[in-house]
Amino acid sequence: MEIRDAVIEDAHAVCEVRRRSISELCADDHRNDPEILNKWLSNKTPQHFAAWILQSDNSVLVAVEGDTIIAVGAVTDQGEITSNYVSPDARFRGVSRALMGALEARALERGNQRCHLISTETARRFYQSLGYVETGPPDCKHDMSSGYPMSKHIAAE
Ligand SMILES: CC(C)(COP(=O)(O)OP(=O)(O)OC[C@H]1O[C@@H](n2cnc3c(N)ncnc32)[C@H](O)[C@@H]1OP(=O)(O)O)[C@@H](O)C(=O)NCCC(=O)NCCS
Repeated sequence: MEIRDAVIEDAHAVCEVRRRSISELCADDHRNDPEILNKWLSNKTPQHFAAWILQSDNSVLVAVEGDTIIAVGAVTDQGEITSNYVSPDARFRGVSRALMGALEARALERGNQRCHLISTETARRFYQSLGYVETGPPDCKHDMSSGYPMSKHIAAE
């Protein structure tokens, strides 16, 4: 597996991974409610992806196996991890753990001491296992009951 910066040609494959990851893996969050799911998926389009990777203060990274994109994540220059989605075909093989390491390394390179994110219910335990701690009460996102604000100190002691 290789982790690299996304390029515009990745748009369709990245959208497919994000859409499948949300639809198939995040049922604890959307509870298979079509209204919530549609709202969540509404900006997971190639057009949105293009704007996303052209955003100058944002890094979009993809995990690739052969020619196949198996995960995508993003981190801003301010250390906010805004996305982390693995393909259902590659779940629980260490892919998100490796991608999170790369996103944190990028945040560190940009001068951050901490990373912040808002976790889904689905990924909450995963982030805790990576050392993230909850920093406040659950937030409402996509009309779902909860998004958990979390943060982790990433700078070397
Ligand atoms: C939870 C999720 C993020 C983990 O990603 P992954 O690539 O499958 O996970 P990895 O293989 O890198 O790491 C597995 C870790 O997840 C944790 N984990 C959480 N739930 C788990 C479960 N049901 N079974 C096994 N491991 C689980 C474990 O701590 C495990 O750590 P370990 O390998 O040290 O035991 C992913 O499976 C998922 O569901 N993604 C959906 C999209 C999403 O919610 N993204 C977050 C947006 S904020």
